[in-house]
Order: sequence, then C-alpha cells, then structure tokens
Amino acid sequence: MREDPKRVGALTPSSRGLARMMAAQVDQSVNGKILELGPGTGSLTAGLLEAGIPEERLILLEMGAEFCTMLGERYPGTEIVQGDAFDLKKFASDHLDAPLAAIVSGLPLFNHEEARRQQLILDGLNLLHPDGSLIQFTYHVIPPVPRDDQAFRLSATRRVWWNLFPAKVWIYRPLPVSE
Ligand SMILES: C[S@@+](CC[C@H](N)C(=O)[O-])C[C@H]1O[C@@H](n2cnc3c(N)ncnc32)[C@H](O)[C@@H]1O
Repeated sequence: MREDPKRVGALTPSSRGLARMMAAQVDQSVNGKILELGPGTGSLTAGLLEAGIPEERLILLEMGAEFCTMLGERYPGTEIVQGDAFDLKKFASDHLDAPLAAIVSGLPLFNHEEARRQQLILDGLNLLHPDGSLIQFTYHVIPPVPRDDQAFRLSATRRVWWNLFPAKVWIYRPLPVSE
C-alpha cells in the first residue's frame, strides 16, 4: 500500500468500537443515502454494514486510488467515488440527486486549517436531509469546528478509549426548519 501517510493521517485503521459508535449515530429512518468521507480500508464502512445499513445505501468518497480498488473488492454493492472530500459541491453536482441521510467522516480534519474544516462541515450540512447528521471522529477533546448555534446543532459522544488513539465522535445537525 503506497498511499500518502500525511493524507491518511492515522497509524492504524479505526477500531471496531469506534466504528460501532460512529454507526450508532446514524438515524437509519431518515430517507436518503449515506456518504462516507475518507473510508480508507473500510473499517468504519464495516461498522455501518454491521449496524444493518445495506451496501446499496452507501457512497464511499475516497481520494486514494489503491484504497478505492480495495473498497471495490470488499464492498462491491457500494458506490465508490474517487475524489476530494473538500470539494463536496462538485461531488454533489456529479453524484447526488437527493438529500443525504447522513455523512460519516473519517477524514483527518485536524490536519487542515480551521477555515477549511469549517467549509467542509457547512458544505456537508447543506447536502443533508433536515433530519440528517454529519458524524466526524477526532482524537481531540475539542470539536473540529467550534459550536455555532446560528449555523448548526452540535453534540458529542463519550470518549471511545478502545482505539489508537482514543477518539470522540462529533455530531453536526442542520438547524431546525423554522415554521
Ligand atoms: C485517518 S484515515 C481513516 C480511514 C478509515 N475511515 C478509518 O477510520 O480507519 C483517512 C482517510 O481519508 C482519506 N482522505 C484524506 N483526505 C481526503 C480527501 N481530501 N478526500 C477524500 N479522502 C481523503 C485518506 O486517503 C484515508 O483513507
């Protein structure tokens, strides 16, 4: 595997415990597909499938060509898109025709400047169903994009200790639609 270590941003794939915690945040009753950003070797994908989400509901957006090949072999029923998760507008215009139920992100967001992180979260929220959620883990105890009650709702899970490194899961949701 010759993928760029800086882009990959993790020593090992996420643990099963973290994958379960991420998948548990997805409300499967919300209509729409589920987009995974930066699936890598598919450890979070496995958690989504184990939670009962069918492969046909998953779109995997991954930059690394070798990862895309591996994901295609492991999860042939998913839609795999090789591309840049920081260009969600282009991804949406090329691949989406309806709002997403959820975005599940394993991107190493803290490797990027705050303005870029914020743009990704806001662009992601724009693609969601009103009841949808954008789920991101980090190794930090602070959120990748700070709370902004004018722009989104933000919550977090307890820390998942059984992971290298211990991680926290952040859930960003669109503001409720006003009457
Ligand atoms: C920290 S690894 C996480 C892999 C897996 N989701 C996990 O949790 O074990 C980050 C993944 O995001 C991918 N990635 C990094 N930047 C990306 C970008 N701009 N667009 C799409 N994928 C990206 C990397 O290639 C890598 O597969």
